[in-house]
Formats: sequence, C-alpha cells, structure tokens
Amino acid sequence: MLKGKHIVLGITGGIAAYKSAYLLRLLIKAGAEVQVVMTPSAKEFITPVTLSALSGKPVVSEFFTANTGEWHSHVDLGLWADAMVIAPATASTIGKMANGVADNMLVTTYLSAKAPVFVAPAMDLDMMAHPSTCRNLQLLKSYGNHIIEPAVGELASHLVGKGRMEEPENIVKALEAFFAKQKTLSGKKVLVTAGPTYEKIDPVRFIGNYSSGKMGYAIAEEAASRGAEVTLVSGPVDIKVSGRGINVVKVESARQMLEACEAHFGDSDIAVMCAAVADYAPAHSSDKKIKREGHDAPVIELVKNPDIAKTLGGAKRPGQILVGFALETDHEETNAQGKLASKHLDMIVLNSLRDAGAGFGTDTNKVTIYTADGRALPFSMKSKAEVAGDILDTIETL
Ligand code: PMT
Repeated sequence: MLKGKHIVLGITGGIAAYKSAYLLRLLIKAGAEVQVVMTPSAKEFITPVTLSALSGKPVVSEFFTANTGEWHSHVDLGLWADAMVIAPATASTIGKMANGVADNMLVTTYLSAKAPVFVAPAMDLDMMAHPSTCRNLQLLKSYGNHIIEPAVGELASHLVGKGRMEEPENIVKALEAFFAKQKTLSGKKVLVTAGPTYEKIDPVRFIGNYSSGKMGYAIAEEAASRGAEVTLVSGPVDIKVSGRGINVVKVESARQMLEACEAHFGDSDIAVMCAAVADYAPAHSSDKKIKREGHDAPVIELVKNPDIAKTLGGAKRPGQILVGFALETDHEETNAQGKLASKHLDMIVLNSLRDAGAGFGTDTNKVTIYTADGRALPFSMKSKAEVAGDILDTIETL
C-alpha cells in the first residue's frame, strides 16, 4: 500500500523522537520514499545524520542551507507529499499547527501540504489532558487532519497515563489502512470544472465572477487521491495542483470550457460541474482597448453563453454520472431541484451565499446535496477538502 508513496515525516522535539528512526525504517521497508523534516528542537533528541542515513535524503530543518544559501521550498515539499506524518507531535507543534504559527520549516510545510496529514501526539499526561491541547487537537481534526491517538502507558516522566506516542508499527498500519480505502475510484475517469470564466470585452477588460477555483480543485484532488484519472478544466485561477493523476486543461471563456468538456466528457465515468460559468458574454469583443477619451460610455450588448452542464446532460450515456452545483441567493431548494431536473443531472450540490463562510473564495463551504433518486443530504460547514470528500462519498453511492 505504501509502495512509491511520498511521505513527509515531521519530527518534533520530544523524547519519543527516538522512535521516529524506527518509524522511518518501517516506512522505507514498506516501499515509501520519505523526506524527513525536523524542528530545530527535535535535533536535541535525535541527530539528522541518523535520519538522513536511514531515509537516503538530507534532512530538511531550516528554510535554507546556511553555507550555500540553498532555499528549501516548503510549497514544493507540501505538493510532493502523498501524506505527511508528524510523529512525535509535541504540544507546542500541535498548537502552532492549529493556529498557523509558521515559524519553522515543519509547520510551514504543514500549512502548504495538500496531502492528508497524520498527527501522532506524544507528551506528558497532564499536558495531553490540558484544555489547550484538547482544543488544538480538536481544531486539527476540524481541518481534516487525522489524529493517531497516543497510547496509555509509562511516560518519560515515569508517570503512567495517556501520552505515549503510538507504536511505529501502528502508525504504519494507520497509513496503510488510509491508502487502502482511498482507491475507491481506481480505474475511473473523472471530469471536473473549476473557477470562473472570463468573457472578453477588450484586451484589458472582461466579464467574470468571484470564483477562486478552491471548491473545484478540492474535488479534483480528492478524486485523484481516490485513484481516479482526473481531467480538470479550469478557468483562470491561481492554484497549483499536486500533479498526481490530474490533467489540467486551462481555459478562459465559457465557449472554451464547453469545447474542453465536450472533448473529455465522452470518455468520463463521472463529471462534476463546479465552475461558475458566466451566463452572458459580450456579443462583440474589441481587439484594441476601448478608449475613454472622446467617446460616450459604451453600451455592451450581451449574448447568452452555452449551458455546459445542460449540454453534457443531453449527451449523457447510460452509466455516466453528471453532477452540477447550484449557487443561490434565494429560494435555494426550489432552484436547485429545478436545475437538477432541467440539466438532466444525477446529483446537485447546493451552496447559498446567504451562509457566511460558504460559496466564493472561502476555504469552507456548507452544502446540501440533492440526488435524482430523491435524497436531500444537508451537511454542516466544513473545509472545502472535507466537502469534496462528502460529494465523492455521495457520488459513490449512486
Ligand atoms: O471557486 P470557489 O471560490 O471555491 O467557489 C465555489 C463555487 C461557489 C463557485 C461553487 O461551489 C459553485 O457553486 N459552483 C457553481 C456556480 C454556478 O455557476 O452556479 P449556477 O447555479 O449558476 O449553475 C448551475 C450549474 O450549471 C453549475 O454546475 C454550473 O457549473 C453549470 N453552468 C452554469 C452556467 C452555464 N452557462 N453553464 C454551466 O454549465
């Protein structure tokens, strides 16, 4: 299960750091490629030499190498990883992760990681039971991180209680179980649209909308992590994908998006239309910048753009699953149900701009999923990564 997987092993400054060497050995033995990232204080407990010898890679600890000035990119590391495991995770690092205190390479990598994150706390029993630690662990869970609960036993202080880092064998088992269950879409082709479309007025102006692409990219990442081969047709946004199993087709206008979708839909098992497609485009666009001086305010004539979801709905073959989104400001359920039927969708994901934290640009969303077989599934406010999980879990029931 771990063969070929890229794992970032984060090690923090606690007595249990000695167990990380064994954990690293087990991961390598299971076929994983491991990059160790240590906090400065972890080096007080275990040497980087031991860990680089076991991993076959220089350990990363600082933002750059002092004598050469070589920059270590936390963003690249975060994108490289299939999983990040922080073992042991001290109360201090857990607090920094929960609150975005990016003052070392490990926490910065964590904040850039798109992959699932596993946290194996290790600390004394009173620290473990402190409301601050409990709250921070709760926060990490709410971000979608996986907490590998510490065991009960004798601690470094010789007190007995909950706080021992889980045994390395069990941490490896947790990772294997995670990856085993992840491959539910293996062999499937998934088409996802994301972001806005820009409808050109002239070389410097366009009609667009506020979509950041976060929701659609999260769906593409989640489908790829479940083993699907993903084509992501993306409007103009500034997001990088992890690169594993995702073919990004960049487009600008609704017509270009339709063309790209039509080219890939026939081949797809599942299509999720998350893009905020502009419904109208200027009837004519100018090749030269429209000047203000010496002209009256121009009147821009608009024409209707094609409805991509409806076009694909009309071309759907038996067995294909087509999912749409509905972004509403009023009469949410009625409008969503109307779009589900009129666009021949199998499922629609409703999000409302009346919910603060939902919709455009946010890292969270609150959705209700309606299926063509009559189900209405309301979900609470969650990170867009978790919402993507709920959407794909529901698609898998269809
Ligand atoms: O990108 P983010 O900032 O993360 O924000 C996410 C989001 C709010 C954009 C996303 O969650 C969302 O709601 N996407 C759909 C937005 C939208 O255009 O909704 P709609 O109700 O107008 O469209 C209904 C469905 O038809 C959608 O699946 C849409 O992709 C599709 N459509 C709409 C118009 C059109 N011309 N062609 C289409 O295919």
